[in-house]
Amino acid sequence: MNEVVPPALTVEIVEMAEEHIPCMQAIERESFPVIWPCDSFERELNHNRVARYLVALVEGSVVGYIGSWIILDEVHITTMAVSPSVRNRGVGRRLMARLMRGSHRPRSPLGPCSRCARATNLPCVCISLRFQAGRRAPPVL
Ligand SMILES: CC(C)(COP(=O)(O)OP(=O)(O)OC[C@H]1O[C@@H](n2cnc3c(N)ncnc32)[C@H](O)[C@@H]1OP(=O)(O)O)[C@@H](O)C(=O)NCCC(=O)NCCS
Repeated sequence: MNEVVPPALTVEIVEMAEEHIPCMQAIERESFPVIWPCDSFERELNHNRVARYLVALVEGSVVGYIGSWIILDEVHITTMAVSPSVRNRGVGRRLMARLMRGSHRPRSPLGPCSRCARATNLPCVCISLRFQAGRRAPPVL
C-alpha cells in the first residue's frame, strides 16, 4: 500500500509578540498535562530580559513555539510545543534551528527542554541532540 505523505508546510518563524499569546496558550493546553500559569508568556515577554521566545506560523496562524533563556553563551530551553495537528512535520526542528541561528555567536542548547519530564520524549530528545555543540551546524531554514 502507498504511504500517504502530507504536503510540505510553509512555516514562518517570528519573535513572539503579545498577539500570539492566546494561540500559544491553546497549544500549551493541548500539549502538557500541567500547564504554565496563564500570565507566564506575558511575563517572559515583558519582564524577563534573558528570555527569547519564537513562534512558528503557518498561513498566519501560530502552530508552535519555543522558549529559551539565553545566559552567556548557552541557550536554556524552557519550553517547546507544536500543535498536535502538525507534529512530526519539522516545525519543532525549525523552531530550534532558528533559535540557534538567531544569535550573534555560536550557542548550544543545554539539553532537552526543562519541561521535558521523560527522557523517552523522543521528538524532544531528537531535536536537542541534533543541535548539541559539535554535532552538526543548524541548517539554514
Ligand atoms: C516535542 C515537539 C515540540 C516536537 O515538535 P515536532 O514539530 O513534532 O518535531 P519535528 O517534526 O521537528 O521532529 C523532530 C525530531 O523528532 C522526531 N520525531 C517527531 N515525532 C516523533 C515521534 N512521535 N516518535 C519518534 N520521533 C519523533 C523526528 O523524526 C525528528 O527527528 P530528526 O530531527 O532526527 O529528524 C512536539 O512533539 C510537542 O509539542 N510535544 C508535546 C510537548 C512536549 O513534549 N514538548 C517538549 C518538552 S518541553
